[in-house]
Amino acid sequence: MQYVPFGNLGFEVSRFGLGCMRLPLKIQPDGTTKESDIDEERAIELIRYAIDNGVTYVDTANGYHGGNSKFVLGKALTGGYRQKVKVATKLPPWSVTQYSDFENLLQTHLEALQTDHIDFYLVHGLDKKSWKKMKDLGVLKFLDDCVAKGKIRYPSFSFHDDLETFKEIIDSYHWAMCQIQLNILDVNWQAGLEGLRYAASKGISVVVMEPLKGGKLANNIPGDILAKWDESPVKRSPQSWAFHWLADMPEVTVILSGSSTLEQLKDSLEIFRTAGAKHLSKEELTIVDEVRKMYQSKIKVGCTACNYCMPCPSGVSIPDIFKLYNEESMYNIYKSTQASYMKLVDKENAADRCVECGNCESVCPQSLPIIEKLKEVHGFFNK
Ligand SMILES: NC(=O)c1ccc[n+]([C@@H]2O[C@H](COP(=O)([O-])OP(=O)(O)OC[C@H]3O[C@@H](n4cnc5c(N)ncnc54)[C@H](OP(=O)(O)O)[C@@H]3O)[C@@H](O)[C@H]2O)c1
Ligand code: SF4
Ligand code: SF4
Repeated sequence: MQYVPFGNLGFEVSRFGLGCMRLPLKIQPDGTTKESDIDEERAIELIRYAIDNGVTYVDTANGYHGGNSKFVLGKALTGGYRQKVKVATKLPPWSVTQYSDFENLLQTHLEALQTDHIDFYLVHGLDKKSWKKMKDLGVLKFLDDCVAKGKIRYPSFSFHDDLETFKEIIDSYHWAMCQIQLNILDVNWQAGLEGLRYAASKGISVVVMEPLKGGKLANNIPGDILAKWDESPVKRSPQSWAFHWLADMPEVTVILSGSSTLEQLKDSLEIFRTAGAKHLSKEELTIVDEVRKMYQSKIKVGCTACNYCMPCPSGVSIPDIFKLYNEESMYNIYKSTQASYMKLVDKENAADRCVECGNCESVCPQSLPIIEKLKEVHGFFNK
């Protein structure tokens, strides 16, 4: 395992951190799995295997696995494991309506995780709106108080909005760390590479989430992209490329990934045995750029999810529909995207509800032929 200093916090951390949002699940009697029904035995085995093999950072949140992730992590960290890792968990802004909720939620985490302090306590998934709400409710004073009492070591936040909002949040408080979505494709998405460098320039450590885009950069890879990876004289699996690309950047402290099986975890740990900073050659970085362009060329509708066209008076979930269409094309995942589309049909939010009023097309900043594209998508998922 590679280790780096955790910014200027005075300790080292493993480059790979275990995300506890995708733990192994129990198989239900009908052969399916349920997000909230964690296979506790396998999950605890997996978490402890990670720690026994050098992982020193674990991440959970109030809501993961229907609220059960934090309890399972708490059990896994008994028997001396708690002392071996830094624990990150998150304060959900959507569950706070008054100042006293901050304290109650933190208490829930401390009890679930069976610990007297949280190392990294993140205000979860901040965006423009939730940032304002949190500030107005006094979250910064709460964080300072908790640090003074020793209940929290390092106040932090995770983020899902635009770069401008990210910079504003970074500049507003003495954060220890921020967690952003970053991977070989999302270089200009949300905080992106510019946000990464901005945070680092202000002395704020960055933990990366979704390095494999939730698995889409590791599984069902289109053949032409596999062939492109294979052009490199240095052979790597797609997930190894994705991890190596992030590890190459010294501004990235921890790369957080969830493993749903022990085999995946072992594979990731093996990758992080060698994935260190500043180790990719110019030729290797060029291959990553080419793969990114290939993925981008598979985008069928240039919808930026700006939501200007929403709400549609007929209930059509326009950006969601285009997202499914693009993801199917990019990541070769017809079955799961079709199932998601059919859920929209059931909820009467699919493309077949469009009455061609034209409202959306008149405001779309990308000038997309939305009506025609919606018909195309509906036909595609009804094949
Ligand atoms: N703060 C936030 O707003 C927020 C949002 C998202 C995530 N997070 C945190 O960040 C963590 C990381 O995000 P993530 O779990 O989405 O990471 P990720 O690495 O993008 O995706 C993990 C998924 O990738 C696949 N995978 C992982 N390792 C693999 C390997 N070696 N070989 C093949 N496939 C592999 C698995 O997919 P399959 O299970 O499909 O096989 C796994 O569930 C989360 O677990 C969570 O703790 C936080
Ligand atoms: S044209 Fe169709 S999708 Fe667009 S706003 Fe009208 S009903 Fe909604
Ligand atoms: S206005 Fe255009 S780009 Fe924006 S979400 Fe709607 S379809 Fe997508």
